[in-house]
Amino acid sequence: MKPFTAMVALSIGAALSLTPLSADVLKGQKLYLKSCKKCHGNGTKGAAMKTQDEWETLFEGSASGLIEAHKGDSSEPFFKNKQFQEIAPHLRDFLYEYAADSGNVPSC
Ligand code: HEC
Repeated sequence: MKPFTAMVALSIGAALSLTPLSADVLKGQKLYLKSCKKCHGNGTKGAAMKTQDEWETLFEGSASGLIEAHKGDSSEPFFKNKQFQEIAPHLRDFLYEYAADSGNVPSC
């Protein structure tokens, strides 16, 4: 294969492997499986707990709604940790993408 042909083949391959998902949704999915699945079930179930509007509300103002929902639960320290603030935007992207009214279903 000539170098040019190889390059064209490579770019076509890269284009085909592209999914409509943004990196943050995928990151959020991984974070969900790591941090939330043990209590709320798989990604399909977890994201479908709420509609897109409801997720927006829960993540508003540093995710205070979500933090409030876990007050008194064993997960409270996790939500109060400042690391949670760093992962919250990714989690939000994933949960919003697959919310109950999104019409999307994740494969996890
Ligand atoms: C240690 C267990 C635990 C973990 C981990 C956990 N939760 Fe929860 N979550 C609960 C409990 C308990 C409640 C309150 C009772 C309920 O509504 O199910 C709750 C409530 C919620 C609610 C509100 C439910 C409602 O109907 O209002 C949402 C949304 C939610 N959790 C999302 C998440 C997300 C997203 C994560 C991961 C970042 C997570 N939870 C991690 C246990 C957990």
